[in-house]
Amino acid sequence: MANGSGYRVRSGEGAVNANHFYNPVDLTKNSYFIRPVIAWAQPVLSEYRKEGIFVMNEQTRHEPAAPLRVGIAGLGTVGAALVSMLAGNGSSLHRRHGRHIEVSGVSARSRSRDRGIDITPYAWHDDPVALASSADVDLFVELMGGEDGPALAAVRAALGAGKPVVTANKALLAKHGVELARLAEKTGAHIGFEAAVAGGIPVIKTLREGLGLASVTRVYGIMNGTCNYILTRMGEEDISFQDCLKDAQTLGYAEADPTFDVEGFDTAHKLALLSSLCFQTRIAADEIFVEGITAITQADMKVAADLGFRIKLLGIASRSEQGVEQRVHPTLVPASTAVARVDNVLNAVILETDHIQELMLSGPGAGGMATAASVLADILDIARGHNVPALGMPVDELAEYRRAPMRAHKGGYYIRLNVRDVPGALAAITARLGQSGISLESVIQRPDLKVETDLPGAQDTRTLVLITQDTLESAVREALARVADDGYTLGAPQVIRIETFA
Ligand SMILES: NC(=O)c1ccc[n+]([C@@H]2O[C@H](COP(=O)([O-])OP(=O)(O)OC[C@H]3O[C@@H](n4cnc5c(N)ncnc54)[C@H](OP(=O)(O)O)[C@@H]3O)[C@@H](O)[C@H]2O)c1
Repeated sequence: MANGSGYRVRSGEGAVNANHFYNPVDLTKNSYFIRPVIAWAQPVLSEYRKEGIFVMNEQTRHEPAAPLRVGIAGLGTVGAALVSMLAGNGSSLHRRHGRHIEVSGVSARSRSRDRGIDITPYAWHDDPVALASSADVDLFVELMGGEDGPALAAVRAALGAGKPVVTANKALLAKHGVELARLAEKTGAHIGFEAAVAGGIPVIKTLREGLGLASVTRVYGIMNGTCNYILTRMGEEDISFQDCLKDAQTLGYAEADPTFDVEGFDTAHKLALLSSLCFQTRIAADEIFVEGITAITQADMKVAADLGFRIKLLGIASRSEQGVEQRVHPTLVPASTAVARVDNVLNAVILETDHIQELMLSGPGAGGMATAASVLADILDIARGHNVPALGMPVDELAEYRRAPMRAHKGGYYIRLNVRDVPGALAAITARLGQSGISLESVIQRPDLKVETDLPGAQDTRTLVLITQDTLESAVREALARVADDGYTLGAPQVIRIETFA
């Protein structure tokens, strides 16, 4: 029996040319065990795969495996945490996982920047693509960020050479995930992206490997710590969105340019990846309905709380006969639900399934150490020879994405209007909703709530909140267009979707 880490190659009699491999062991008349140097063996193995020859990673415990040499591009918040994690835990990782993980090379923009880690033991590469292609790198870790540019070029270079890649880059995968998964399949490489969704929470592994036959009917969650921090603070204190955002920036929870987070795009990228894994469809980030949290006011927070709700930025994807609905928007959720109690920078992902009902994973969604822990988990899987298709199944077996139109979304709505203080206004507004087939659950007039608009005439308006019963999005839009035309309201209406998760 052969020992060590390598590949089992099986073929029809005579199809494997044993001369291609270092010290091949003939296991049976048509099955070989090989112990290759990964960098040169991968292209040969992928040729075999193309010819339909069975190639399987195989690792036995009888002989020490060669160290896994890791190249890390990006030494910022996550990359520096990963380097210090690997440097400080080398022997314990080896004891627990049976293989040395060595950082062989690193890349970042500035070589001299103080990152609080010692990078002198590692080969420096100005160019991340050169690092990914280096013969001293068995596994490439991309922690630079960016949906194109060097991140894409370096990941393509690594996968093209048959090297496994681990990345935390949701923007890259949301845009190029299908292409990269296909490339990985072609060369027999692996892509790990646990850290790309909900930072330290192992949701990708759960979806790819942990559900058995259970199929997901809906996935939703809080996937952006910046937004959750802001909404939590606004719900607890009488403080505006802008002031909360400034605090979040001071505390390092929000970027100097927070657009990506607060407008919901970051959540949308993560939802696109989850949705693809849940519903076995191609990644379709451009098809997501996205609304951010910038228009949420203290009035919304107060009314929501009085009605027993909290406001959260949720990413929600579900499958229906019309297709897959993917949406990101502020949402009123009952204060009694588990997701309503996930506060501050914490994240949570909830999977509703047929066999195991509801599964909630909650924890830190960002931060250097939490995110690096997920990166490391992927590295260890690869070190053990574990390889599953990046998107859960071969790319050609993924269904084309079919979008369920947002106008067909059905649910409850919170509608806040600035209504002119004139006789007949309320009756006219409720009549318009009735004409569109909308039934109201409650009508709330709150003279105590400040009207938050600088528009002329604002002093003569009152805040009116309407809570609808389940209705179609198209009906709400139609009714509100008519209400605006009637001239009883001032400024744009605030519309927040309600989810009861019953
Ligand atoms: N931070 C988190 O909590 C978190 C959580 C989940 C996922 N992620 C994802 O993890 C990735 C990294 O995030 P981060 O927060 O660690 O970013 P970061 O702190 O901004 O660090 C980015 C690193 O990439 C390097 N870099 C940028 N462009 C480069 C180029 N052209 N060539 C070589 N190096 C380049 C930078 O070099 P310099 O240092 O020299 O400027 C820096 O070291 C992103 O995809 C992000 O979305 C982050």
